[in-house]
Amino acid sequence: MSESTGPRPALDLEAFPPSFAWGTATSAYQIEGAVAEDGRAPSIWDTFSRVPGAIDNGDHGDTACDHYHRWREDIALMKELGTDTYRLSVAWPRVVPGGDGPVNKAGLDFYDRLVDGLLDAGITPSVTLYHWDLPQALQDRGGWTVRETAEHLAAYTTAVAERLGDRVTRWATLNEPLCSGWIGHLEGRMAPGLTDLTAAVRASYHLLLAHGLATQALRAAAPGARIGLVTNHSTVAPASDRPEDLAAAARMDGHTNRWWLDPVYGRGFPTDMRELYGVELPEKPGDAELIAAPLDWHGLNYYFPVTVADDPEGPVPHAREVRLPDVPRSGMDWQIDAGGLEALLLRLTEDYGVRELYVTENGSAFPDAVGPDGAVHDPERTGYLEQHLAACARAVRKGVPLAGYYAWSLLDNFEWAYGYDKRFGLVHVDYATQKRTVKTSGRRYADIIRAHREATAG
Ligand code: FCB
Repeated sequence: MSESTGPRPALDLEAFPPSFAWGTATSAYQIEGAVAEDGRAPSIWDTFSRVPGAIDNGDHGDTACDHYHRWREDIALMKELGTDTYRLSVAWPRVVPGGDGPVNKAGLDFYDRLVDGLLDAGITPSVTLYHWDLPQALQDRGGWTVRETAEHLAAYTTAVAERLGDRVTRWATLNEPLCSGWIGHLEGRMAPGLTDLTAAVRASYHLLLAHGLATQALRAAAPGARIGLVTNHSTVAPASDRPEDLAAAARMDGHTNRWWLDPVYGRGFPTDMRELYGVELPEKPGDAELIAAPLDWHGLNYYFPVTVADDPEGPVPHAREVRLPDVPRSGMDWQIDAGGLEALLLRLTEDYGVRELYVTENGSAFPDAVGPDGAVHDPERTGYLEQHLAACARAVRKGVPLAGYYAWSLLDNFEWAYGYDKRFGLVHVDYATQKRTVKTSGRRYADIIRAHREATAG
């Protein structure tokens, strides 16, 4: 790599163990394109991206980064960055296009080739089974609001594990069930686009049940599997120390954090939130144990903290987000606060007893452009990366068993409801030509990885 940004003293790289895994992450619908190839059927995101007004600029994932055809080039980029690992997701509608029923061999073939290509390049795949692309056929039968969808996820998981489980050991069941549950069914900003509390609570339950059933399926089909769940969290601060705002922050914490962690770590669904939602959970005997099945690792996705004020008239959880003035923000308008990452890593370790952690996503969008010199200079993203790695190092020094970090994202890609305008990549994508250009932040990441290897080489 020609351009080096040089060493920066602030990064305590020796905090990270020699085995620390440096990675990048993507997801199927955001990069693959080829939505009608080799037997893939539509997912809820193909449908949602056709709803007028749902996605900025009317964007959709039909072509995205064309990774389905350019995966070799993308693996070469990972090698150029020097990463050890790559987090990808498998598209359920490629593997079981109908959601349940026949397995599509051609769909599995793609991931088979991809996994072999990664292993040949010395890159460990970390495979997520569900990153939001539910087969539309299942949505037509109730989607996550019905129990059968969880059972179908387990059957699809078995098909994937039987094919890849001899080579893939790092597995995640779901990515960010909070987004599927709350943003997809309560806020309506993601597929399937519902705004229905009952549907949302039922979906959240079935998503966590699906996690439990998929864990069971993986243990059976791939005995060497090391299994985790990937959840996204925010630290929650009250807008003032008024009792009403303190209570609002506690509710938001329940909605954003405890609802998704307590059941997985054997505490059941939090009673205060059950009462607040007032929706009966579709519980059956044995479910609680399935949902709390022991895991090998936990994946934390972290982007921003939130500050909330009491909002009795507003939607559940009656806590309104307050926009703090004069704080640094990314191009998503998300507050930048690396301290939140440190706090959440400590919370997962100390409160939930997690014994192996990965940061499975962390990153920032800024409006990058290729400059006249042909390079993409993105000092703000580099700063974000460095601050958050410094937060990881502090957490490790305090005893957090952090085993790796995955930058979101390898490539600029389809950022869901925001379309292609929001660029999170360490690598810039020119969507007209599909040309990839490693950004300055990507070069900095490569330098950090190299420096860590040198610092910890035995
Ligand atoms: C997370 C998603 C990921 C990406 C980032 C920016 O919520 O898991 O797909 O969109 O946000």
